Amino acid sequence: MYVAVMGYGTVGSGVVEVFNKNHESIVKRSTQPSLDLKYILDLRDFPGDPNEGKFIKDYNIILHDDDVKIVVETMGGLHPAFEFVSQLLCAGKSVVTSNKELVAAKGYELLKMAEEHNVNFLFEASVGGGIPIIRPITQCLAANEIDEVAGILNGTTNFILTMMIEKNMSFADALKLAQDNGYAEKDPTADVEGHDACRKICILASLCFGKHVYPESVHTEGISGIALADVAYVQSGGGVIKLLGCAKRLPGGKISAIVSPAVVQEGSQLASVRDVFNAILVRGDAIGDVVFYGRGAGKLPTASAVVADVIDCAKHVARKKAFGWGPGEADYVVDYRTLPVALYVRAEVTNREKVLAGVRAALGDVRLLSREGAPENELAFFTGTDTEQTLCDKLARVEGLTVRSQIRVTDY
Ligand code: HSE
Repeated sequence: MYVAVMGYGTVGSGVVEVFNKNHESIVKRSTQPSLDLKYILDLRDFPGDPNEGKFIKDYNIILHDDDVKIVVETMGGLHPAFEFVSQLLCAGKSVVTSNKELVAAKGYELLKMAEEHNVNFLFEASVGGGIPIIRPITQCLAANEIDEVAGILNGTTNFILTMMIEKNMSFADALKLAQDNGYAEKDPTADVEGHDACRKICILASLCFGKHVYPESVHTEGISGIALADVAYVQSGGGVIKLLGCAKRLPGGKISAIVSPAVVQEGSQLASVRDVFNAILVRGDAIGDVVFYGRGAGKLPTASAVVADVIDCAKHVARKKAFGWGPGEADYVVDYRTLPVALYVRAEVTNREKVLAGVRAALGDVRLLSREGAPENELAFFTGTDTEQTLCDKLARVEGLTVRSQIRVTDY
């Protein structure tokens, strides 16, 4: 049986490296007499590469080669990945991808195509890089009703926040360090503005709750507005700021889903996830909380998940694994402003005592926070719980208060 790899970037070249390095055991575990790499598709040249004879530039060679039964898509982006993967599935080939943008936008359609053509479309590497999460949710936790899934889903932003928390580094300096270390992209928007985490929580929510969740329906905020003042205030209140993707099952068949900076409780499992590491907490009705932790990005960790999917495809050739979710639905994701939440608030105030009295009159008791060197005209506190819309409306009516920062407080 033959395999092809489309895209020889960081992940694709890692896939080829792992495939070659552990080839003997991979073939054994695939239960096939042979499992060999036939083509590597990339428009660039790689002179001197040990796989030199395998490079091609024409995708149609893979599409029309009946010996290629499994194709790895590590090109990234939505187009032409979607068109290529659709055609390959319809041609009876199984596809493995690490492309979260593709799965978050087109997962339902591609899973349906795979089902119709009795092949597999697997994407373990699309969430959490090398952390096993897709297969554990669908297989090991299959006895549970999953009520909630939440995670630190982006390594770059977790690195930046860790530097801000532990080294008192500004957001701009920490971002520069992430770029120098090769974690963040040159254009880091997808990481720092939460789009990457959004795609990942969409995939997890689709899998956990059974209907496709589209990125457009998930309210997404990044970390570029977080200041060192916020880090210090939250720390004084026993919390840590993390960028979280969260999705919950709600009564009545709908769900909540959001990506935003969040206060997690110091000492909780998510609070201790540092550096570029990822962690995903799954709350099931039988298991309780289970947390998956590890390297969420990088060449070989991600390749590890991709190659495992290739082995799974080889084991299940001409047999679709029972795995996937149903179509999306309008208004499936409830407006986050209508849901109960507590907030961390940092505000500029005209007169501390007078404004604090106004805050208490509007919101009831709030928990005041402190930081070293805070200016006289600054006030920071945790609110009690109410719907986000109500809290924001009440804050807006307090005279002399201008909100400068607002972060959701979680019970993780
Ligand atoms: N840019 C992503 C991250 C890579 O930093 O987590 C893995 O999706």
